[in-house]
Amino acid sequence: MKGLLTLTVNGRLREDAVGGNALLIDYLRDTLGLTGTKQGCDGGECGACTVLVDGEPRLACSTLAHSVAGRHVETIEGLAHEGNLSRLQRAFHEHLGTQCGFCTPGMIMAAEALLRRNPQPSRDEIRVALAGNLCRCTGYVKIVDSVEAASKCGEVTA
Ligand code: FES
Ligand code: FES
Repeated sequence: MKGLLTLTVNGRLREDAVGGNALLIDYLRDTLGLTGTKQGCDGGECGACTVLVDGEPRLACSTLAHSVAGRHVETIEGLAHEGNLSRLQRAFHEHLGTQCGFCTPGMIMAAEALLRRNPQPSRDEIRVALAGNLCRCTGYVKIVDSVEAASKCGEVTA
């Protein structure tokens, strides 16, 4: 049975009829068309579905949509402004942190949350923040390099 879900997604107030058991990832991807949030393991293991809820990383595959009613949800689509990538997104591009594109949105959202609470993290702090985000096909050096480069710029989206 559907119920009205009211929340803010990427700065826009939404009201949608959503099933009581609907997962946040399905709401974002299927109802809103925000397919940047990826479904990897679908079991809380890989971090590909990471979004921010009130600025904190949250696994959208393990979150009921109605549980974030009234909250502010941010997805990878919300980081770019007027067609311009955020500094963190550019850093992933410039420092080769982006590989297959499947894990990258979750990596960037987890890193975004880190840089907002700790603008100058150490490499170890970056590794800890990204520990829940798995990549099957590359090492993590370029990913950590990318977050570190963005931290040196000092610009995050909020
Ligand atoms: S798809 Fe959510 S943790 Fe893997
Ligand atoms: S899973 Fe994304 S680069 Fe490997």
